[in-house]
Amino acid sequence: MKQFLLRGQQLVTIAFLEGQLKRLPNLIEGEDALLQVPSVLQDQSLKHALVVTTAGFIRRGTLKPFFETLTNQGIAYTIYSEVIPDPDIACVEKGYKLYYQNGCDAIVAIGGGSAMDCAKIIGARVANPDKTVEDMTGNMKIRKNLPPFFAVPTTAGSGSEVTAGAVITEPAGSRKYPIFDFVLMPTYAVLDPKLLLNLPPFMTAASGMDALTHAVEAYTNKFHHKAAADYAKKAVSLIMANLEKAVANGQNLYARHQMLKGSYYAGIAFNVALVGYVHAISHGIGGRYHLQHGQINASLLPLVLEAYGKAAHKSLADLADLVGLSGQTEADKAQAFIQKIRDLRSAINLPAGIPDIQEADIADLAAGAEKEGNPIYPTPVTWQQADFEIILRKVKAEH
Ligand SMILES: [Fe+2]
Repeated sequence: MKQFLLRGQQLVTIAFLEGQLKRLPNLIEGEDALLQVPSVLQDQSLKHALVVTTAGFIRRGTLKPFFETLTNQGIAYTIYSEVIPDPDIACVEKGYKLYYQNGCDAIVAIGGGSAMDCAKIIGARVANPDKTVEDMTGNMKIRKNLPPFFAVPTTAGSGSEVTAGAVITEPAGSRKYPIFDFVLMPTYAVLDPKLLLNLPPFMTAASGMDALTHAVEAYTNKFHHKAAADYAKKAVSLIMANLEKAVANGQNLYARHQMLKGSYYAGIAFNVALVGYVHAISHGIGGRYHLQHGQINASLLPLVLEAYGKAAHKSLADLADLVGLSGQTEADKAQAFIQKIRDLRSAINLPAGIPDIQEADIADLAAGAEKEGNPIYPTPVTWQQADFEIILRKVKAEH
Protein backbone atom coordinates (compact mmCIF):
# COMPACT_ATOMS: atom_id res chain seq x y z
CA MET A 1 0.00 0.00 0.00
CA LYS A 2 2.80 2.40 0.94
CA GLN A 3 4.57 1.63 -2.33
CA PHE A 4 1.31 2.22 -4.22
CA LEU A 5 0.85 5.64 -2.60
CA LEU A 6 4.44 6.48 -3.32
CA ARG A 7 4.04 5.71 -7.01
CA GLY A 8 0.81 7.72 -7.15
CA GLN A 9 2.55 10.73 -5.65
CA GLN A 10 5.43 10.44 -8.13
CA LEU A 11 3.02 10.19 -11.07
CA VAL A 12 1.14 13.30 -9.98
CA THR A 13 4.46 15.16 -9.66
CA ILE A 14 5.52 14.16 -13.16
CA ALA A 15 2.13 15.07 -14.65
CA PHE A 16 2.53 18.50 -13.05
CA LEU A 17 6.13 18.93 -14.24
CA GLU A 18 5.06 18.00 -17.77
CA GLY A 19 3.56 21.52 -17.94
CA GLN A 20 7.09 22.78 -18.56
CA LEU A 21 7.17 21.17 -22.00
CA LYS A 22 4.51 23.64 -23.15
CA ARG A 23 6.67 26.58 -22.15
CA LEU A 24 10.08 25.66 -23.53
CA PRO A 25 12.23 28.67 -24.43
CA ASN A 26 12.68 29.90 -27.99
CA LEU A 27 16.08 28.67 -29.03
CA ILE A 28 18.75 30.91 -30.54
CA GLU A 29 21.86 28.86 -31.22
CA GLY A 30 25.17 28.70 -33.03
CA GLU A 31 28.38 30.69 -33.25
CA ASP A 32 27.73 34.31 -32.17
CA ALA A 33 24.14 33.51 -31.23
CA LEU A 34 24.47 36.11 -28.47
CA LEU A 35 24.91 38.80 -31.11
CA GLN A 36 21.41 38.00 -32.43
CA VAL A 37 19.84 39.03 -29.14
CA PRO A 38 19.87 42.80 -29.85
CA SER A 39 17.77 42.28 -33.03
CA VAL A 40 15.29 40.18 -31.09
CA LEU A 41 15.04 42.92 -28.47
CA GLN A 42 14.53 45.48 -31.22
CA ASP A 43 11.85 43.38 -32.96
CA GLN A 44 9.92 43.31 -29.72
CA SER A 45 10.31 47.06 -29.17
CA LEU A 46 12.36 46.46 -26.03
CA LYS A 47 14.60 49.38 -25.21
CA HIS A 48 16.76 48.69 -22.19
CA ALA A 49 18.28 45.36 -21.08
CA LEU A 50 19.56 44.51 -17.63
CA VAL A 51 22.59 42.28 -18.31
CA VAL A 52 23.18 40.01 -15.32
CA THR A 53 26.58 38.33 -15.31
CA THR A 54 29.71 37.75 -13.27
CA ALA A 55 32.68 40.09 -12.85
CA GLY A 56 35.01 37.71 -14.71
CA PHE A 57 33.10 38.02 -17.96
CA ILE A 58 33.29 41.79 -17.87
CA ARG A 59 36.98 41.78 -16.86
CA ARG A 60 37.96 39.45 -19.70
CA GLY A 61 36.11 41.56 -22.25
CA THR A 62 34.24 38.54 -23.63
CA LEU A 63 30.99 40.48 -23.88
CA LYS A 64 32.40 43.54 -25.65
CA PRO A 65 31.04 42.55 -29.10
CA PHE A 66 27.61 42.02 -27.53
CA PHE A 67 27.60 45.46 -25.92
CA GLU A 68 28.73 47.05 -29.19
CA THR A 69 25.90 45.33 -31.06
CA LEU A 70 23.38 46.54 -28.50
CA THR A 71 24.61 50.11 -28.93
CA ASN A 72 24.58 49.83 -32.72
CA GLN A 73 20.96 48.69 -32.61
CA GLY A 74 20.01 51.56 -30.33
CA ILE A 75 19.33 49.44 -27.28
CA ALA A 76 20.44 50.72 -23.91
CA TYR A 77 21.85 48.35 -21.31
CA THR A 78 22.78 48.29 -17.66
CA ILE A 79 25.36 45.81 -16.45
CA TYR A 80 24.89 44.03 -13.15
CA SER A 81 28.06 42.02 -12.69
CA GLU A 82 28.16 41.58 -8.93
CA VAL A 83 26.51 38.18 -8.95
CA ILE A 84 28.20 35.93 -6.41
CA PRO A 85 28.26 32.12 -6.42
CA ASP A 86 25.17 30.87 -4.57
CA PRO A 87 23.42 34.26 -4.76
CA ASP A 88 21.49 35.48 -1.71
CA ILE A 89 18.58 37.88 -1.33
CA ALA A 90 20.84 40.95 -1.09
CA CYS A 91 22.35 39.99 -4.44
CA VAL A 92 18.88 39.83 -5.99
CA GLU A 93 17.75 43.12 -4.43
CA LYS A 94 20.77 45.01 -5.83
CA GLY A 95 19.94 43.83 -9.33
CA TYR A 96 16.24 44.59 -8.87
CA LYS A 97 17.09 48.15 -7.82
CA LEU A 98 19.25 48.64 -10.91
CA TYR A 99 16.45 47.32 -13.12
CA TYR A 100 14.04 49.95 -11.79
CA GLN A 101 16.43 52.86 -11.50
CA ASN A 102 17.41 52.46 -15.15
CA GLY A 103 13.98 51.78 -16.59
CA CYS A 104 14.90 48.32 -17.92
CA ASP A 105 12.34 46.22 -19.77
CA ALA A 106 14.21 42.94 -20.41
CA ILE A 107 16.78 40.71 -18.68
CA VAL A 108 19.77 38.99 -20.29
CA ALA A 109 21.45 36.49 -17.93
CA ILE A 110 24.91 35.39 -19.04
CA GLY A 111 26.74 32.85 -16.89
CA GLY A 112 26.35 29.59 -15.04
CA GLY A 113 23.57 28.54 -12.69
CA SER A 114 24.24 31.33 -10.17
CA ALA A 115 23.90 34.20 -12.65
CA MET A 116 20.81 32.66 -14.21
CA ASP A 117 19.14 31.95 -10.87
CA CYS A 118 19.87 35.43 -9.54
CA ALA A 119 18.50 36.98 -12.75
CA LYS A 120 15.36 34.82 -12.62
CA ILE A 121 14.61 35.95 -9.09
CA ILE A 122 15.25 39.59 -10.06
CA GLY A 123 12.63 38.98 -12.78
CA ALA A 124 10.25 37.52 -10.20
CA ARG A 125 10.65 40.67 -8.08
CA VAL A 126 9.93 42.83 -11.15
CA ALA A 127 6.76 40.80 -11.74
CA ASN A 128 5.76 41.11 -8.09
CA PRO A 129 7.05 44.38 -6.64
CA ASP A 130 4.85 43.87 -3.59
CA LYS A 131 6.20 40.43 -2.72
CA THR A 132 9.52 39.72 -1.02
CA VAL A 133 11.85 36.95 -2.20
CA GLU A 134 10.86 35.00 0.94
CA ASP A 135 7.19 35.28 -0.11
CA MET A 136 8.06 33.57 -3.38
CA THR A 137 10.14 30.61 -2.15
CA GLY A 138 8.46 27.25 -2.68
CA ASN A 139 6.13 26.23 -5.48
CA MET A 140 4.01 28.39 -7.79
CA LYS A 141 4.17 31.57 -5.71
CA ILE A 142 5.24 34.00 -8.47
CA ARG A 143 2.29 33.53 -10.81
CA LYS A 144 2.88 36.68 -12.90
CA ASN A 145 5.00 36.73 -16.04
CA LEU A 146 8.59 37.88 -15.78
CA PRO A 147 9.92 40.49 -18.21
CA PRO A 148 11.32 38.99 -21.48
CA PHE A 149 14.17 36.80 -20.26
CA PHE A 150 17.21 35.62 -22.21
CA ALA A 151 19.23 32.81 -20.61
CA VAL A 152 22.76 32.47 -21.96
CA PRO A 153 24.69 29.54 -20.43
CA THR A 154 28.47 29.76 -20.26
CA THR A 155 29.00 26.17 -19.13
CA ALA A 156 27.41 23.08 -20.69
CA GLY A 157 25.97 21.29 -17.70
CA SER A 158 23.42 22.81 -15.36
CA GLY A 159 20.55 23.10 -17.82
CA SER A 160 19.36 26.23 -15.95
CA GLU A 161 18.55 27.87 -19.28
CA VAL A 162 15.64 25.48 -19.65
CA THR A 163 14.33 25.13 -16.11
CA ALA A 164 11.39 26.70 -14.35
CA GLY A 165 13.30 26.81 -11.09
CA ALA A 166 15.89 28.87 -9.24
CA VAL A 167 17.70 28.54 -5.94
CA ILE A 168 18.29 31.31 -3.41
CA THR A 169 20.74 31.06 -0.52
CA GLU A 170 19.94 32.38 2.92
CA PRO A 171 22.03 35.51 3.66
CA ALA A 172 23.77 34.22 6.76
CA GLY A 173 24.68 30.72 5.74
CA SER A 174 24.54 27.79 3.48
CA ARG A 175 20.84 26.94 3.50
CA LYS A 176 19.37 26.96 0.04
CA TYR A 177 15.72 27.49 -0.84
CA PRO A 178 14.25 26.38 -4.14
CA ILE A 179 11.77 28.51 -6.02
CA PHE A 180 9.66 26.83 -8.67
CA ASP A 181 7.09 28.36 -10.97
CA PHE A 182 6.43 27.85 -14.69
CA VAL A 183 6.90 31.60 -15.22
CA LEU A 184 10.61 31.16 -14.36
CA MET A 185 11.13 29.31 -17.64
CA PRO A 186 13.30 31.65 -19.76
CA THR A 187 11.64 33.18 -22.83
CA TYR A 188 14.80 32.58 -24.86
CA ALA A 189 17.73 30.20 -24.44
CA VAL A 190 20.84 31.34 -26.28
CA LEU A 191 23.36 28.59 -26.98
CA ASP A 192 26.53 30.32 -28.17
CA PRO A 193 29.57 27.99 -28.23
CA LYS A 194 32.00 30.92 -28.46
CA LEU A 195 31.19 31.83 -24.86
CA LEU A 196 32.64 28.49 -23.74
CA LEU A 197 36.01 28.82 -25.44
CA ASN A 198 37.76 29.83 -22.22
CA LEU A 199 36.10 27.27 -19.98
CA PRO A 200 39.00 25.25 -18.48
CA PRO A 201 39.23 21.47 -19.09
CA PHE A 202 38.25 20.55 -15.53
CA MET A 203 35.09 22.67 -15.59
CA THR A 204 34.27 21.41 -19.08
CA ALA A 205 34.64 17.82 -17.87
CA ALA A 206 32.74 18.26 -14.61
CA SER A 207 29.82 20.22 -16.06
CA GLY A 208 29.58 17.77 -18.97
CA MET A 209 29.33 14.83 -16.58
CA ASP A 210 26.62 16.71 -14.67
CA ALA A 211 24.64 16.96 -17.90
CA LEU A 212 25.22 13.26 -18.62
CA THR A 213 24.00 12.42 -15.13
CA HIS A 214 20.82 14.48 -15.68
CA ALA A 215 20.09 12.55 -18.86
CA VAL A 216 20.91 9.07 -17.51
CA GLU A 217 19.02 9.58 -14.26
CA ALA A 218 15.97 10.93 -16.11
CA TYR A 219 16.07 7.96 -18.47
CA THR A 220 16.51 5.26 -15.84
CA ASN A 221 13.73 6.65 -13.63
CA LYS A 222 10.37 4.88 -13.62
CA PHE A 223 7.29 5.83 -15.65
CA HIS A 224 9.32 6.45 -18.79
CA HIS A 225 7.73 9.69 -19.92
CA LYS A 226 8.00 9.46 -23.71
CA ALA A 227 9.01 13.06 -24.49
CA ALA A 228 11.45 13.23 -21.57
CA ALA A 229 12.97 9.90 -22.59
CA ASP A 230 13.51 11.12 -26.16
CA TYR A 231 15.26 14.26 -24.93
CA ALA A 232 17.39 12.16 -22.55
CA LYS A 233 18.49 9.90 -25.41
CA LYS A 234 19.41 12.85 -27.63
CA ALA A 235 21.45 14.23 -24.75
CA VAL A 236 23.29 10.95 -24.06
CA SER A 237 24.24 10.62 -27.75
CA LEU A 238 25.52 14.18 -28.00
CA ILE A 239 27.47 14.08 -24.73
CA MET A 240 29.02 10.66 -25.34
CA ALA A 241 30.17 11.79 -28.78
CA ASN A 242 31.51 15.21 -27.83
CA LEU A 243 32.55 15.59 -24.20
CA GLU A 244 36.00 14.08 -24.59
CA LYS A 245 36.65 16.26 -27.65
CA ALA A 246 35.54 19.43 -25.85
CA VAL A 247 37.86 18.62 -22.93
CA ALA A 248 40.83 17.70 -25.15
CA ASN A 249 40.50 20.84 -27.27
CA GLY A 250 38.55 23.68 -25.70
CA GLN A 251 38.70 25.58 -28.99
CA ASN A 252 36.64 22.94 -30.80
CA LEU A 253 33.56 25.04 -31.48
CA TYR A 254 31.60 22.15 -32.95
CA ALA A 255 32.10 19.97 -29.85
CA ARG A 256 31.29 22.97 -27.60
CA HIS A 257 28.05 23.56 -29.50
CA GLN A 258 27.03 19.88 -29.35
CA MET A 259 27.72 19.87 -25.60
CA LEU A 260 25.51 22.94 -25.15
CA LYS A 261 22.75 21.13 -27.01
CA GLY A 262 23.29 17.96 -25.00
CA SER A 263 23.11 19.87 -21.76
CA TYR A 264 19.96 21.70 -22.92
CA TYR A 265 18.18 18.45 -23.86
CA ALA A 266 19.30 16.82 -20.61
CA GLY A 267 17.85 19.84 -18.81
CA ILE A 268 14.44 19.29 -20.42
CA ALA A 269 14.57 15.55 -19.63
CA PHE A 270 15.32 15.88 -15.94
CA ASN A 271 12.90 18.73 -15.43
CA VAL A 272 10.09 16.37 -16.29
CA ALA A 273 11.40 12.92 -15.31
CA LEU A 274 13.52 14.23 -12.42
CA VAL A 275 16.95 13.09 -11.26
CA GLY A 276 17.75 10.11 -9.06
CA TYR A 277 19.92 8.98 -6.19
CA VAL A 278 23.18 10.29 -7.71
CA HIS A 279 21.86 13.80 -7.18
CA ALA A 280 20.29 12.93 -3.84
CA ILE A 281 23.71 11.82 -2.55
CA SER A 282 25.71 14.46 -4.42
CA HIS A 283 24.01 17.54 -2.97
CA GLY A 284 25.02 16.65 0.60
CA ILE A 285 28.62 15.88 -0.38
CA GLY A 286 28.90 19.14 -2.34
CA GLY A 287 27.56 21.21 0.55
CA ARG A 288 29.88 19.62 3.10
CA TYR A 289 33.19 19.33 1.27
CA HIS A 290 32.80 22.08 -1.34
CA LEU A 291 33.61 19.85 -4.29
CA GLN A 292 32.36 20.52 -7.80
CA HIS A 293 28.85 19.13 -8.34
CA GLY A 294 29.60 17.48 -11.69
CA GLN A 295 32.81 15.89 -10.41
CA ILE A 296 30.90 14.28 -7.52
CA ASN A 297 28.22 13.02 -9.90
CA ALA A 298 30.86 11.51 -12.16
CA SER A 299 32.26 9.52 -9.24
CA LEU A 300 28.83 8.37 -8.05
CA LEU A 301 27.07 7.61 -11.33
CA PRO A 302 28.53 4.15 -12.17
CA LEU A 303 28.23 2.96 -8.56
CA VAL A 304 24.61 4.05 -8.21
CA LEU A 305 23.63 2.54 -11.58
CA GLU A 306 25.29 -0.77 -10.64
CA ALA A 307 23.53 -0.81 -7.30
CA TYR A 308 20.12 -0.26 -8.97
CA GLY A 309 20.69 -3.78 -10.31
CA LYS A 310 18.17 -5.55 -12.49
CA ALA A 311 15.60 -2.75 -12.19
CA ALA A 312 17.77 -0.51 -14.39
CA HIS A 313 19.04 -3.11 -16.87
CA LYS A 314 16.43 -2.52 -19.55
CA SER A 315 16.88 1.25 -19.69
CA LEU A 316 20.68 1.04 -19.49
CA ALA A 317 20.63 -1.57 -22.27
CA ASP A 318 18.64 0.93 -24.40
CA LEU A 319 21.35 3.51 -23.82
CA ALA A 320 24.03 0.95 -24.67
CA ASP A 321 22.25 0.27 -27.99
CA LEU A 322 22.02 3.99 -28.58
CA VAL A 323 25.78 4.49 -28.35
CA GLY A 324 26.61 1.29 -30.25
CA LEU A 325 27.68 -1.04 -27.43
CA SER A 326 27.00 -4.74 -27.75
CA GLY A 327 26.15 -7.51 -25.30
CA GLN A 328 24.36 -10.86 -25.18
CA THR A 329 21.81 -9.92 -22.55
CA GLU A 330 20.29 -6.73 -21.13
CA ALA A 331 22.51 -7.19 -18.08
CA ASP A 332 25.62 -7.37 -20.29
CA LYS A 333 24.61 -4.28 -22.19
CA ALA A 334 23.84 -2.39 -18.98
CA GLN A 335 27.30 -3.26 -17.69
CA ALA A 336 28.87 -2.16 -20.98
CA PHE A 337 27.16 1.23 -20.69
CA ILE A 338 28.32 1.65 -17.09
CA GLN A 339 31.87 0.76 -18.17
CA LYS A 340 31.60 3.34 -20.96
CA ILE A 341 30.83 6.00 -18.33
CA ARG A 342 33.92 4.92 -16.35
CA ASP A 343 36.08 5.03 -19.49
CA LEU A 344 34.82 8.48 -20.42
CA ARG A 345 35.43 9.70 -16.87
CA SER A 346 39.05 8.58 -16.90
CA ALA A 347 39.58 9.95 -20.43
CA ILE A 348 38.57 13.41 -19.19
CA ASN A 349 40.67 13.10 -16.03
CA LEU A 350 37.97 13.11 -13.40
CA PRO A 351 38.60 11.02 -10.29
CA ALA A 352 36.75 7.77 -9.60
CA GLY A 353 36.59 8.22 -5.83
CA ILE A 354 35.81 10.91 -3.27
CA PRO A 355 38.37 10.40 -0.49
CA ASP A 356 37.24 13.66 1.17
CA ILE A 357 34.22 11.86 2.63
CA GLN A 358 34.74 11.32 6.36
CA GLU A 359 33.53 8.11 7.95
CA ALA A 360 32.01 10.17 10.78
CA ASP A 361 29.80 12.04 8.27
CA ILE A 362 28.46 9.01 6.43
CA ALA A 363 25.33 8.38 8.51
CA ASP A 364 24.35 12.02 8.24
CA LEU A 365 25.03 12.20 4.51
CA ALA A 366 22.98 9.03 3.97
CA ALA A 367 20.07 10.42 5.99
CA GLY A 368 20.17 13.62 3.92
CA ALA A 369 20.21 11.64 0.67
CA GLU A 370 17.26 9.54 1.76
CA LYS A 371 15.31 12.65 2.70
CA GLU A 372 16.01 14.34 -0.64
CA GLY A 373 15.38 11.26 -2.78
CA ASN A 374 12.33 9.73 -1.09
CA PRO A 375 9.52 9.94 -1.87
CA ILE A 376 9.81 12.28 -4.84
CA TYR A 377 12.54 10.93 -7.16
CA PRO A 378 10.99 8.05 -9.16
CA THR A 379 14.14 5.91 -9.01
CA PRO A 380 14.11 2.32 -10.34
CA VAL A 381 14.39 0.96 -6.80
CA THR A 382 13.70 2.56 -3.42
CA TRP A 383 16.61 2.71 -0.99
CA GLN A 384 16.79 3.05 2.77
CA GLN A 385 19.51 4.76 4.79
CA ALA A 386 21.74 1.64 4.88
CA ASP A 387 21.77 1.43 1.06
CA PHE A 388 22.98 5.03 0.80
CA GLU A 389 25.68 4.31 3.37
CA ILE A 390 27.00 1.44 1.24
CA ILE A 391 27.38 3.75 -1.78
CA LEU A 392 29.05 6.46 0.30
CA ARG A 393 31.61 3.98 1.65
CA LYS A 394 32.23 2.59 -1.83
CA VAL A 395 32.79 5.99 -3.42
CA LYS A 396 35.09 7.02 -0.56
CA ALA A 397 37.26 3.94 -1.16
CA GLU A 398 37.16 3.98 -4.98
CA HIS A 399 40.28 5.05 -6.85
FE1 LIG B 1 23.10 18.28 -11.59
